[in-house]
Amino acid sequence: MRMYDLILKKRNAKELTKEEIDFIIDGYVKGEIPDYQVSALLMAIYFNGMTDEETLNLTMAMAHSGDMLDLSAINGIKVDKHSTGGVGDKTTLVLAPMVAALGVPVAKMSGRGLGHTGGTIDKLESFEGFTTAIDEETFIKNVNDIKIAIASQTGNLAPADKKLYALRDVTATVDNISLIAGSIMSKKLASGADGIVLDVKVGSGAFMKTFEDANKLATAMVNIGKGAGRAMVAVISNMDEPLGNAVGNNLEVIEAIETLKGRGPKDLLELCLCLGSHMVVLAKKAENVAKAREMLISTIEDGSALKKLEELVKSQNGDARAIYDYTYFKKAAYEKEIKSEAEGYVAKIVSEEVGNVAMILGGGRTCKESTIDLSVGVIIHKKVSDYVAKGDVIATLYANDEEKLDAAVKRFERVYAYSADKVEKNEMIMGEIH
Ligand code: URA
Repeated sequence: MRMYDLILKKRNAKELTKEEIDFIIDGYVKGEIPDYQVSALLMAIYFNGMTDEETLNLTMAMAHSGDMLDLSAINGIKVDKHSTGGVGDKTTLVLAPMVAALGVPVAKMSGRGLGHTGGTIDKLESFEGFTTAIDEETFIKNVNDIKIAIASQTGNLAPADKKLYALRDVTATVDNISLIAGSIMSKKLASGADGIVLDVKVGSGAFMKTFEDANKLATAMVNIGKGAGRAMVAVISNMDEPLGNAVGNNLEVIEAIETLKGRGPKDLLELCLCLGSHMVVLAKKAENVAKAREMLISTIEDGSALKKLEELVKSQNGDARAIYDYTYFKKAAYEKEIKSEAEGYVAKIVSEEVGNVAMILGGGRTCKESTIDLSVGVIIHKKVSDYVAKGDVIATLYANDEEKLDAAVKRFERVYAYSADKVEKNEMIMGEIH
């Protein structure tokens, strides 16, 4: 087989076979096929697309390019959740304890993440001492004992995707549905869960800006997962305003805890109940989502979800006192209230800009090596459709550096837009793919 012929085949919009795709991925990971040939292939894929079968074969080849986690030592049906990423997304911190409290094993590998705030792993490190670098034996033991463990991703999960993603990033070939779906799903399949619930976000703060694209991505990922023999559901959720009110690591952890105490923002709770009920059904702990939803609500009402978070934090050496006393979380040095200079109904909160404000304050990473400040961030006090009078406090910024705070205040001017007419609330759940 020659890479030249395979590029030509795809350039001429023909379908690549499984053997051909395996040859490409294997050769690329081994360094036998150079970047320039793979770049040409990616561009041909970008323009000519891939069939469902090609997409599945590519995903499987990438998933098998490194370690495939074996979770068979964990009792029960393992269900994972993955979000395509949004602003203020702290769902895992709420969902994982709720679902685990119902006896669903949550064996979660999470990332640190680039962008406006850290990933789940960074957020969990808000608890003093919390460690996510646990070995496989401890990971499996914890899930069997207390039904929950959250660890940082191991080094060798889908290395082909790592290499290809970096190449796509510099060759303008990231935004192709098959390539994105394959990239995300290769890592999920390698992580070993029996069932996967996907949260595909759509809106200004999301990777997918239109419902149509989100729907295509969700469908492609569900097809891949089913083709690989996993139980799958995708939920399409709104990201036209930040999820909940808090954006920033410690602030989001506190909001997640508040949600487990029954005092969380409605939109966050709604999304967690929706995703969580699908997880519970895929794990066969409830017959349908309506029943699963009731069971999840009861984990908040009886305090079992909060207790589960406490068990998780303690089992991974974190200081769980912070769950009951927020002064154990590091606090930012400066707090600045932002007052509205206009009046009207909130028509828009540009999530992307709220993310940029958190980033300016130091809450996110610009590159893998950056350190993040866990205590900075933003709390928004008004959501879409709320009425705001002139002088009302619409947000509070938390900072450790006066210069960064000034820059963030300036940037915040781009966040809110008002309307004189009443505005409808955003619908949180926009669709589901089964
Ligand atoms: N996230 C991924 O992991 N891969 C993509 O291609 C896009 C987003």
